[in-house]
Parts: sequence; C-alpha cells; structure tokens
Amino acid sequence: MKNKLLNWFSDIYEDSNGVNVYFAPGRVNLIGEHTDYNGGHVFPCALEIGTYAAVRLRNDRTLRFYSMNFPDEGVIISSLDEISSGEELIYHRKDDWANYPKGVLWAFAQHSFVKKYIDIKDGQTLIDRGMDILYYGDIPNGSGLSSSASIEVLTAYIIKDLYHIDISLRDISLLSQYAENKYVGVNCGIMDQFAVAMGRENHAIFLDTSNLDYEYAPLNLGDNKIVIANSNKRRGLGDSKYNERRSECEEALRRLQAVIDINTLGDLTREEFDAHTEVIKDNTLIRRARHAVYENQRTIEAIKALKADDMQGFGKLMNESHISLRDDYEVTGHELDSLVEAAWEQEGVIGARMTGAGFGGCTVNIVNKDYVEQFISNVGRLYEDKTGLKADFYVVEVGGGPGRI
Ligand code: GLA
Repeated sequence: MKNKLLNWFSDIYEDSNGVNVYFAPGRVNLIGEHTDYNGGHVFPCALEIGTYAAVRLRNDRTLRFYSMNFPDEGVIISSLDEISSGEELIYHRKDDWANYPKGVLWAFAQHSFVKKYIDIKDGQTLIDRGMDILYYGDIPNGSGLSSSASIEVLTAYIIKDLYHIDISLRDISLLSQYAENKYVGVNCGIMDQFAVAMGRENHAIFLDTSNLDYEYAPLNLGDNKIVIANSNKRRGLGDSKYNERRSECEEALRRLQAVIDINTLGDLTREEFDAHTEVIKDNTLIRRARHAVYENQRTIEAIKALKADDMQGFGKLMNESHISLRDDYEVTGHELDSLVEAAWEQEGVIGARMTGAGFGGCTVNIVNKDYVEQFISNVGRLYEDKTGLKADFYVVEVGGGPGRI
C-alpha cells in the first residue's frame, strides 16, 4: 500500500522525494447509538480499513490537497494564510472534501481552543510550512463507517508528527471533533473521532462520553465474524435529521431537569426514566429520550455480556438496539430495516443492527464464520428484492489507531 501511495503522489505532484505515508482507521459502532451527545456510553472499534495519506512539507505557505477518491475535484489549492487568520473562519464550499483536512489545520490555529490541549505561547505558530498531500480511503464514503473522522484524525496525526506538536491521541480526537463541529458545521458527538484516534487491535472501546473515561475490552468473538453490510443508500449527516434528534433530546432533558437533578440523559436508569416520563409530556420527546436512556443501559449490559463470553446475550442487545432506533428514535428507514430484518432471519446470526447515524449507511452483523457466505448471498438477495438496491458486504477485522507506515 505504501508504494501505491508513493506512486500516486509522484503522478500528481511530480516526484515522491521526502514523502511520508500515514494511515488512520475507520470505525464501526457495535452498540450505543445516539448516546454520545446524551452523556451515555458507546462501544465502537477501529477497523483495518481506513484512510491513507502521502504527504510532504513545502518551503512556502501553500497547501495542496488531492484525493484518489474524488479525482474529478482535481488538486485543491489553499494557503496557511487562509486557515490561520486569527479566530476568523474562511470556508469555501467549493473546496468540497478538502474542508475536512482544512478544518483540522484551522483548529490547530485556534489558540483559544488548542491552549487547553497544547502547551503554546501567545503568538506562537504551530504550523509554519505548507504541504502537498494525497489521500486515499478504502472506507465507502457516507456509509456510517466514519470516513470523515478518519480523514480528520489522520490529518491531525500527520500535523502532530511533521510539525512536532506534543498532543495526545485523546486530544487529537477532541481537536478533530472541534474541526467537524465548528468548521465543517456538523454537530457530531465524540464517538467517531475517539474510536479512530484511540483504536486498538482486537479490542473495542467502552467509552463513557460524559467524562471520556474509557476501557479497552478484548473482542473475543469466538467462532464469529463481524460482517458489515452497506445499504448503499447514501447518508449525509448534514442534511439528515441528526441535529433535530439532538435538540429533541436536549428538550426532553430540560423538562426532566425540572424534577430530577441530572446533567445528561445518560445519568438515568430505565426505572428512574420511566418514573418521570409524565413531565416530558410530548410523546415524540418521550420516545427520543427513552431511546437515549435505554440504549445507554443496553451498552453497559453489552460489555458485561461480552466479558462473560455470552455472545447470545450480546447479540440480543444489538437486536433490541435496532428496534429502539427504528421505533423510538426513528433513524432507520426502509433500507436499513430491510437489511437488518433479512439478517435476523438467517441461520448463524448472533445479532444485527444499523450502525452510525442512520438514515442509510451500514448495518453491523455478528455472524458465525461457517454461515458468513450463506448470510451474504441470502441477505443480498432478500434486500435487493425488497428495495431494488444492491448491498455490499465486508467481513472486517478490528484494527489499531493512526500511525506512520
Ligand atoms: C454519527 C456521529 C456520532 C454519533 C453517531 C450516532 O456517527 O458522528 O457522534 O452520534 O452518529 O451514534
């Protein structure tokens, strides 16, 4: 892969002298969906698929970006002057995908923000030379496997390495989330960037998003494989109802806070929630908040099941998660439901659910290794019959975090 990247780099930028190559993974969330902005738990793991970049520093302030995934966009040219002009935000829609790495560069220039994570003197510039960079990702874009967090964390990691900036991987995830929230304008939680930056081979990350405490849980799936199915129904977070769900949860929390002393929905047990639903009044808000509370509790139970080698129990919680996302949170839709319902009917399936933000994208399935082939052909056929769309399937391995290769 490294040589491929170097060759591509030479094709685009003339030669590949002095070029370094880096990788950051994508992620799949096993359970704990739409809990990360509700102070709940999530349980994602990094994947072996992800984003690569070949990069070389320049002697001037020019920035050049190219992606093998978006060749029609050509080389996108910018400058450090544009992304480091004080607190001002200069955003060009025409820069398209390059706004993700540009946002990360911009975040490094926001002194009032980075001061929390990096030891920096007033007026000090962290990034003083431009760069030529070429990206290639083998995560399907917009599929809920965090291609955006992958490119953000990768860029932040490259910047840390090439400009010798002392910032931890945990803080890289916070900086990348800041870039996505403030520069790209998507109000996502911390799960994706955290999972990508902190990934560990053969482990999932049990993360408490209320305080960023986390634990690596060995992912001993025994005879089972993780199979991801892409519905090929595209999901754009920006135009989805993601922000609407966020504010519905905030409103439900505000109403609950009138009668109970809590900071987030994640502070509640199922029983405490059920005892207070009448103050929320609105039925839609009750269902949204119920998902957030119950899903958080399911996630806590899921890691216990995994530790006890109770795969059936783990799978059951995954299935319940999907039902709650379908009925209470309403973020699944015809395609994801068809894909998951087809999976539930198959022999050898331990659990199946949508993963990521929803409204399209992927499902995650735990399938006995002897049934994987059969699963792929049956689910593919049933899904196509129902929706007219062809699904793609990936049998994935759990990978590590970002690094130079
Ligand atoms: C997207 C967001 C995450 C999280 C999930 C839903 O992936 O980026 O922060 O909210 O949706 O669990």
